[in-house]
Amino acid sequence: MYAQPQTGIAPEDCHFYHVMDLPGHGRVGGEWDLRGKVDEYLGQFDFRGRSVLEVGPASGFLTAEMEHRGAAVLALEMPPEAGWDYVPYPAETLAPIMQDRVGTMQRLRNSFWFTHATLRLRARLAYASAYDIPAELGQFDVAVLACVLLHCHSPLRIVEQCARRANTLIITDMYNPALDGLRACHLLPTAENQNWHTWWHFSPDLFVEFLRVMGFRHFRQSIHTQQSAAGPLSLFTIVASRHEVVAAEAMPVAAGAAPAPAATETPGLAELRASVAQLQAQMVELGALVRQALPPLPVAHGTTAGKFETGLLP
Ligand SMILES: C[S@@+](CC[C@H](N)C(=O)[O-])C[C@H]1O[C@@H](n2cnc3c(N)ncnc32)[C@H](O)[C@@H]1O
Repeated sequence: MYAQPQTGIAPEDCHFYHVMDLPGHGRVGGEWDLRGKVDEYLGQFDFRGRSVLEVGPASGFLTAEMEHRGAAVLALEMPPEAGWDYVPYPAETLAPIMQDRVGTMQRLRNSFWFTHATLRLRARLAYASAYDIPAELGQFDVAVLACVLLHCHSPLRIVEQCARRANTLIITDMYNPALDGLRACHLLPTAENQNWHTWWHFSPDLFVEFLRVMGFRHFRQSIHTQQSAAGPLSLFTIVASRHEVVAAEAMPVAAGAAPAPAATETPGLAELRASVAQLQAQMVELGALVRQALPPLPVAHGTTAGKFETGLLP
C-alpha cells in the first residue's frame, strides 16, 4: 500500500521542482520558490495534529513544511508506469516531448525521496492516481490539492474523490482575474499553442460551489503572489470545510457561504454570526473593488509552443 522509502539517491539523479535548502547539500531547485510564503500557499491552515492527504508532492517541499507544522502526511504521487493527463495532441507532437518526460518524472520521484531522506521525514507516500484513491489508505482530516488540478483533464472528479476522504480541502491553483465572479474553468490548450501539460485556469467559485454541493459549508479564500522561475505569479487558495470554522486568521469567506447557525445555539450568537457573515461579504465585495481599481497581478497568459502557461511544470 505504501511505497518503500528510497535511500542512497544522488542529488544529480533528482529533478527538484521546489527551491529548498537541504542540510548538507545547500540550495536545490527549482520551478517554484515557496520559501517564506508557504503559509499563504496553504491557506494559513493550522496543521497541528492533522492527518493530511497531499496529492502530488513533486519534490516534497510542502510535505516537509506540513510535517514540520505538526501534520502526519500521506503523499499520493502518480505511479511510475503512469503519466500525467497529457493533453492529447497528435502523436507526432507528443512523441519527442514524452522521450524526456519519462526520465524527468523519475528524477522528480527521486527528488521526493532525496528530500525525505535528507530531512528525515516521517511522511509516507503511496503511488496511485488521485482519480482512484485506494480505499485502504483510509480517511484524512485534510486533503491538499496544490497546483495539481490545472494539469488534470477531469479536475472535479479528483475534488470529489478527495472530498470523500476528508472533511477539509485546501485547493491552491493559478489565479486568473478574468474569471472573477464566474463558476468557470478556462481551457488553455489550443491547436496552435501545443500546451500539452496544462489544461485549465479555474475560478475559485467553481470549487466553492462544487464543494457546497458536496456539503461543505465553511470557506476561506485568499489570493497571493508566489515566486516561480517565470517570475511572480498570482494564485488563489481555498480552505473548505464541512464541519468547522477553518479560519486561523481573519480572511473573507466566499460570498454566499456563510455558515448556518447550529440548532442549539447560545442566544445572541446567531445574530453575531449574521453580522460577521455580512461583514465578511462586504470585505469580499471591497476586495473585488480594490482588485478592479489596481493594475492586474501578473498571471501568465498566452503561450508559445513548448513553453508553459504557469511555470508549474517539472
Ligand atoms: C505541478 S506539481 C505541484 C507540486 C506541489 N503540490 C506544489 O503545489 O508545489 C503537480 C504534482 O501532481 C502530481 N500529479 C499530477 N497528476 C496527478 C494525479 N492524477 N494523481 C496524483 N498526482 C498527480 C505530479 O506528478 C506532481 O507531483
